[in-house]
Amino acid sequence: MRKITVCLLFFALLFHAWGQDANRFFPEDRLLIPGAFYYPEHWPEHQWERDFEKMAEMGFEFVHMAEFAWAFLEPSEGVYDFDWLDRAIDLAAKNGLKVMLCTPTATIPVWMGIKYPDTYLMNNQYRRAEHGSRQNNSLVSGKYIELSEKIIREMAKRYGDHPHVWGWQLDNEPYAKDDYSPAAQEAFRQWLKNKYQTIEALNHAWGTAFWSITYSSFDEVRIHNTGAIDWWGNNPHAVLDFRRFTAWVQANDLDRQALILREYINPDQFITTNYVAVPGNADPRLTENLDFISYTSYPNNGTPNLGEYGFRLGNHTALMLANDYFRPINGVTGVLEIQPGQVNWASSNPMLMPGTVHMWLYHSFGAGSRLASSYRFRQKIYGVEQYHDGMLRTDGVTPSQGGEEYITFIEELKMLEGMDVDTEMPEDYAAKTTAILWSHDNMWDHNRQPQNDRWNIWNHTLKYHQILKSIDAPVDYVSESCDWSRYPTLIVPAYQSVDSVLVEKLTNYAKRGGTLVVTCRTAKKNRFGHFWEAGWSAPIYDLIGAEIEGYDMLPGYKHATVEMNGKEFKWNRWGELLKPFKDEYAVAKYSDQFYAGKSAVVQREIGQGTVTYIGVDTETGELEKQLIKGLFKNRGLPVSNLPEGVFSYWRDGFRVAVNYSSEVYEMPLPENAKIVIGEKKLPSPGVLVWIE
Ligand code: GAL
Repeated sequence: MRKITVCLLFFALLFHAWGQDANRFFPEDRLLIPGAFYYPEHWPEHQWERDFEKMAEMGFEFVHMAEFAWAFLEPSEGVYDFDWLDRAIDLAAKNGLKVMLCTPTATIPVWMGIKYPDTYLMNNQYRRAEHGSRQNNSLVSGKYIELSEKIIREMAKRYGDHPHVWGWQLDNEPYAKDDYSPAAQEAFRQWLKNKYQTIEALNHAWGTAFWSITYSSFDEVRIHNTGAIDWWGNNPHAVLDFRRFTAWVQANDLDRQALILREYINPDQFITTNYVAVPGNADPRLTENLDFISYTSYPNNGTPNLGEYGFRLGNHTALMLANDYFRPINGVTGVLEIQPGQVNWASSNPMLMPGTVHMWLYHSFGAGSRLASSYRFRQKIYGVEQYHDGMLRTDGVTPSQGGEEYITFIEELKMLEGMDVDTEMPEDYAAKTTAILWSHDNMWDHNRQPQNDRWNIWNHTLKYHQILKSIDAPVDYVSESCDWSRYPTLIVPAYQSVDSVLVEKLTNYAKRGGTLVVTCRTAKKNRFGHFWEAGWSAPIYDLIGAEIEGYDMLPGYKHATVEMNGKEFKWNRWGELLKPFKDEYAVAKYSDQFYAGKSAVVQREIGQGTVTYIGVDTETGELEKQLIKGLFKNRGLPVSNLPEGVFSYWRDGFRVAVNYSSEVYEMPLPENAKIVIGEKKLPSPGVLVWIE
């Protein structure tokens, strides 16, 4: 049996917030642990054993249970019933399955809402949520906090030392939902008091002199309700603070749950939760007490996506992004819910091309997942998620198409695990490792003030991510506090709010030999979200070697051009007019409009490293791609040219490629490549695994 000594080069260096390497929860000789979600309370008990047998027979190794089961675990206040769960765990164990338990807090039982109506959150019309759905609870309601603590404590006492319980998931897909209830208003005031200390400081930070919003005490502050008047009429600084507060409330709830569990569980049981892959209002980096962060992925939501069959293959960037975003947080990630086939909630829910689930699983594996669990094992025959596929069809015994593909994946995985391969990451691959600086705070700020309807911070960032993947570079999303010295290249996309500490850190990074790429809209604001009382982005002039004189954009139907090395590129969304300190810094210039001849991109050496400022956001990203490729080539690194939708990864000695392009792609393999799975002519959907 091969021994995995290196997961990814830097992972060994990363220790999660709880203090230990989260890789320890996964056997050293295993690449990935497959599992499935199961809800015993949905099925007659006499079927449970048959279901667990089938799960084990299909190759699944863990089962996930108790999510959304609060009403069954505490049928009335203070009356707990764990017997059914004991029996389900015993049967799972009898079939060799490990158990991942979930805290049931995403669905409060009906008795709770009737007895304590303020356990529900309030929407922006100040209407209380009601019973009948999920995630309708207020995370700051005193009663919710008290009662959720009790149920978690009971579960932790009972299963914290259970030999078959492998780990815990908290709640479900933390959303950080907006809550306008009186409890939330009070918690927001308290949060503001802690942050600003004095009302004068809040008035300054929010710029309340504008439109007479000014406050004389914290007691007067209410959440600025973007649903009550035109969204643009709301103070951007107050809205940003509400986003920060809401994310903090969510993270706080998860940390609180984790700390209750930690009082009882043995250290071999992990704690994770399953964030939605697309960054939203919850910030996964804010929790401090989880062992690692996992994610959920439903790549096919019926949108056109790439190529002829994109509507069946799903969004090619979904798993690329999820892994590279979640994995670096604690050095380990996994997909806790992966789409099994057709779902019930998208605008259109077409059949998947055969092979799609198989490809998604390989994408997730190649990009680093250490577990992959399918949502859900059995297709439900009633309830909200009718029409949502499972690993088994509606008869409860026949594997679905996705189920069959999962079986194949699991069998192949066993074969890979049996191979003896070199687990040292190749040097030239490691040297391409690139960090992308990301913060939710920055995203929320952009979302409130995009300045045109075509600007989207997330798409702007994804464009750079895709460029990096097209040249086969490993990518990690990093935060400001991270040690960037491990990364030879750092991309800072449209990082709008900065302070002097960050600018100094960026400068030092470049001076010490880093390849730094900073893009348009960076450093426009301070941390309150105010502009500088100075030139546009004044704090970075010395870093980039240029001044920024202004910015332009065009209406959706118009394009302007920028020229680099004799080639013209179209742009429309954002272009900054740069005035380089030295003429030789200019590498691209606008070639039309009244400012033709002004610089759009500047590049300079600084200390041992380089800084490139890309002040323009081009339509296809081709200009940006040529710039990034040039930086890698200058350092003598091999640069691939993978088409959009084709991804390649190195994972523990294996090279893994997947193809969402809707077309066959002949993978350029080195002479010494030995194909283990698939063919050099990679179909779409398709998977290729080889060793070098
Ligand atoms: C996820 C959610 C699951 C299930 C699934 C259906 O977002 O976490 O509980 O509802 O969607 O696709």
